[in-house]
Amino acid sequence: MSRIAYVNGRYLPRALAAVSVEDRGFQFADGVYEVCEVKDGRLVDERRHMARLDRSLKELRMARPMAEAALSIVLRETVHRNRVRDGIVYVQITRGAARRDFPFPAGAKPTLVVTARNSDTSQLERLAAEGVGVVTVPDIRWGRVDIKSVALLPNVLAKQSARDRGAREAWLVDEAGLITEGASSNAWIVTREGTLVTHPLGEDILPGITRSVVIDVIKAQGLAFEERAFSVEEAYGAREAFITSASQIVLPVVAIDGRPVGNGAPGLIATGLRRDYHRHAEVS
Ligand code: PDD
Repeated sequence: MSRIAYVNGRYLPRALAAVSVEDRGFQFADGVYEVCEVKDGRLVDERRHMARLDRSLKELRMARPMAEAALSIVLRETVHRNRVRDGIVYVQITRGAARRDFPFPAGAKPTLVVTARNSDTSQLERLAAEGVGVVTVPDIRWGRVDIKSVALLPNVLAKQSARDRGAREAWLVDEAGLITEGASSNAWIVTREGTLVTHPLGEDILPGITRSVVIDVIKAQGLAFEERAFSVEEAYGAREAFITSASQIVLPVVAIDGRPVGNGAPGLIATGLRRDYHRHAEVS
């Protein structure tokens, strides 16, 4: 957990770090967030994360609490004060605190919270070596999940149902039986022919930053790649599967709904993408 949190202009010990009970993030999930990887104390793909944050704010007509350059300093300071070497930095912005009323409040100042924590890197390496299980659940989210909003209740329920079934991640399935993405990651398969497949961008998935860098790696390696939706049935028959997110980079999926993927061991392509990822990512 973050020991020190930045809250609206101050770095505070966790026990003192708080926002108002009238905060619209708390009342309405009226807020957005970003999670950026920290590696060797430096930020990974910060520019892409900040560009996505900017887009989320614009889509929700929410004001920026501070300029990007100032926010970049706060991110680094929060990482530094929490002595984070390998972990994540978390940014949350809400529409601010105001008397509870649905329309946008007049004159509320946006709330800004930044926290940072180390990851359990040995656990992540073990998961990468062993692979993880996923289960499929219906995608019951709203129609604009391309916006990285803090309204994550369907994701929470999906993730809990994965945990209840002994899996690490839930893959969300739309009404046509196609997998959109994971509860907190993008979903990928490698077909029997060796083509990498992931759902195309649109309003029905989050445009993952890790996904976009993995596409750069795929192109650099000259691998076959298609952006298209794939069904649960196709995933069951895939040669490999994996998930991508800033906090886990690439994790091989070795079981879907309890059925082994390929030979039931992490695939060579997923393992290679994980190995090469940081040579393509921008570190600052
Ligand atoms: N999750 N899809 C969803 C629904 C996500 O919540 C995330 C990120 C991703 C992957 O995006 P990126 O590669 O930019 O991290 C896809 C963050 C890390 C979280 O756990 O909150």
